[in-house]
Amino acid sequence: MSDKVVLAYSGGLDTSVAIRWLKEKYNLDIITLTVDVGNERDFSAVQQKALKSGAVKALVRDAKELFVDYFIFPALQADAIYEGQYPLATALSRPLMAKLLVDVALEEEASVVAHGCTGKGNDQVRFEVGVNALAPGLKIIAPAREWGMTREETISYAERYSIPVPITAASPYSIDENLWGRSIECGVLEDPWAEPPEDVFTWTKPPDKAPDKPSYVEIGFDQGIPVAIDGQQMDGVSLIRRLNELAGEHGVGRIDHIENRLVGIKSREIYEAPAAVVLLQAHLALEAMTLAKDQLRFKQKVAQEYADLIYNGLWFTSLHQDLATYVRSSQRFVTGTVRVKLLKGSCRVVGRKAPKSLYSFGLATYDRGDEFDQSASPGFIHIWGLPVKTQAQVQLIGEAEGSLSIMPPKRPEKEGK
Ligand code: ARG
Repeated sequence: MSDKVVLAYSGGLDTSVAIRWLKEKYNLDIITLTVDVGNERDFSAVQQKALKSGAVKALVRDAKELFVDYFIFPALQADAIYEGQYPLATALSRPLMAKLLVDVALEEEASVVAHGCTGKGNDQVRFEVGVNALAPGLKIIAPAREWGMTREETISYAERYSIPVPITAASPYSIDENLWGRSIECGVLEDPWAEPPEDVFTWTKPPDKAPDKPSYVEIGFDQGIPVAIDGQQMDGVSLIRRLNELAGEHGVGRIDHIENRLVGIKSREIYEAPAAVVLLQAHLALEAMTLAKDQLRFKQKVAQEYADLIYNGLWFTSLHQDLATYVRSSQRFVTGTVRVKLLKGSCRVVGRKAPKSLYSFGLATYDRGDEFDQSASPGFIHIWGLPVKTQAQVQLIGEAEGSLSIMPPKRPEKEGK
């Protein structure tokens, strides 16, 4: 009896060819695992295709709820955005897939797992670091990294073994999709000067063709988790789907980024992430109202660490556990409603309210009802500025020789006077 391999299977060309290739090269029985993370496809067709391509068993796991509850929403609470641009849709799905691959390998008594990533990307790292963390004994094979075939060669390999080549193999783009966003690479996008052609986008209307009238959306949060749209309570999966539609209709969520991959390459990435863009913005707005200044400052640093560790495949680590604990604790008063305005590709926060808001009208107002004691300010300024004054007097800031030029020179004397 041959040994078994569990292959992470998308139904695309590479993973379909991988089924045949794994059989030929390693004489393994192939069990495919397709994970439904909200990528809206016909999963029974994917299953059929796996079997047709030579798999002995084709499994599909609906992981949408797990994805939202354990990956997307914690990342939203953390405000995790890689390099200030990428909401991490693909990156977040990989550790979940690694976990499910390991689960199935144990259930099916397979000693090998496989994935379809090449050797140039981040996804291979995320899969393998994840699998190694969860089941260090499993062997990992990455066919597309080993076989050294070009895209053309892969297509003729498929034809040779009557593996159905999807129409989309004609598409010049490499696409990955889930509830949190769409990632698009390759083709003309590899020229960073070339504007992305309209055909790369499928979730978002071109902003200039979006409706002239704005839509207002009210998002209700409970401890940093979005739970309602326009007052209607919704489960996470439905809420994200709804926002993808609403915001996509207004052309919101297109991202064009030159990204630093973990493997040292800069790559041009296009993303469509309407719901993620809206929710991240709304969540930050609610935090601005419910967290103290120092909490916000500290949380920004955590957000960057958090985004980096997701991007870099370090999901299953103690550092992550520690940061996640902090993030969860930080969210206890991040409850309330944020109102956003969607118009022609833009999403703007136009209102926010929260039961535990730190915004005090009495302190902020310039009108009647002002509770701020302005007579306390001179004393505050005296003490706040004391070290500045002391240093300026002793060390002649701006005049001492060799000091940095933080001050324009004295106005030159007008000539002829
Ligand atoms: N650059 C993104 C990341 O590393 C997206 C990768 C998308 N993968 C793909 N097969 N198109 O997370």
